[in-house]
Amino acid sequence: MRNSRRCIVTGGCGFIGSALVRHLCREGREVLVVDKLTYAGNVESLKEAEGKYTLLVKDICDQEAMDSAFAEFRPDTIFHLAAESHVDRSIDGPGEFVRTNVVGTATLLQSALKYWKTLPDRDAFVFQHISTDEVYGTLGDTGFFTEKTPYSPHSPYSASKASSDHLVRAWRDTYGMPTLITNCSNNYGPYQFPEKLIPLFINNIRHRKPLPVYGKGENVRDWLFVEDHARAIDIIYHKGVVAETYNIGGFNEWKNIDIIKTVIKTVDRLLGRPEGADLDLITYVTDRAGHDMRYAIDSTKLQRELGWEPSLQFEEGIERTVRWYLDNQEWLDNITSGEYEKYYEDMYKNR
Ligand code: NAD
Ligand code: DAU
Repeated sequence: MRNSRRCIVTGGCGFIGSALVRHLCREGREVLVVDKLTYAGNVESLKEAEGKYTLLVKDICDQEAMDSAFAEFRPDTIFHLAAESHVDRSIDGPGEFVRTNVVGTATLLQSALKYWKTLPDRDAFVFQHISTDEVYGTLGDTGFFTEKTPYSPHSPYSASKASSDHLVRAWRDTYGMPTLITNCSNNYGPYQFPEKLIPLFINNIRHRKPLPVYGKGENVRDWLFVEDHARAIDIIYHKGVVAETYNIGGFNEWKNIDIIKTVIKTVDRLLGRPEGADLDLITYVTDRAGHDMRYAIDSTKLQRELGWEPSLQFEEGIERTVRWYLDNQEWLDNITSGEYEKYYEDMYKNR
């Protein structure tokens, strides 16, 4: 079993990255967060871990800065999460997705390789790449993505993530650098940027704004609480077999429209409104271009071989999530003002 003390976390100020940093700091690990602080990066999300991590505000595409980060911090692990992560943005502007997700990952791999070659114990180092189930494409009514499902990405986002996965495998196969890849389903929970379905809708319901449901709302996603993802990443780090891929998911499929109704009823109840009073906010809008119909992940390998399982039932996770957003309006207000508000309104107008 590996036992890292010093970890770099790229994208540690984002939604999943901050959950992972909070987890690692609780476990007493030394953490260097490397984050460019894009619109999605927020140091406030790391308040709980204040004083327990170091922040390096740099772009992962900056080779010199990444070389120095490795040489000076001397990690025994890197968890690579920095990415452009929102599918709609990748449709509007794919360039930044190719730059960060593809070029940035290659840059980071080069810095890691240079550093790894200097290590006396090369087996003690791992480059762990955090990826998505979207690389597998889309499913019909039945079946699951397994680790052997061929890649078939459809959006600029998923194609850029698929490219990054291939690059990580190539660095392992070509240079022998130890790597792990994890592909996870849709995450939800506290500190998620309110452009993603669940936090966007919670915020809109609170303010009685329309809820833009793409197409008929029948697309299916498989949802996992973010802290269960963070725990899975760490278990895979400790026990995973180098060069392997692990799928992460909670066997928790929902049609969008059903999840939306659950979120509406939960917000209504917690705000003391009649349950279902806000169902009238549902507004069907033009579908997302190339919208994948169904994702469903088979995480049997992770559950059987490494002993991970999700800790939260979905209803409990949604309740915790809604409560968190309602109790942390200030965190939301800080990021939903100004530039983002304008971006969102323009996008909504065009639908
Ligand atoms: P996020 O958008 O919330 O956060 C991304 C973070 O990366 C931000 O802090 C941002 O500032 C940083 N970043 C972006 N470009 C950078 C650059 N060039 N250099 C340095 N930092 C940069 O994303 P998230 O939802 O937390 O996703 C994290 C990772 O997990 C991504 O790689 C994503 O593909 C993957 N993933 C996400 C989900 C999900 O449901 N959100 C599911 C599976 C996998
Ligand atoms: O599956 C993992 C992926 O999940 C991650 O790799 C991505 O980083 C993450 O953003 C997420 O991608 P999705 O596109 O599935 O998430 P999103 O929250 O954008 O949308 C979830 C579903 O809800 C999807 O079918 C589109 C739909 N949707 C979304 C928004 C924002 C709507 O109907 N209306 C909306 O306003």
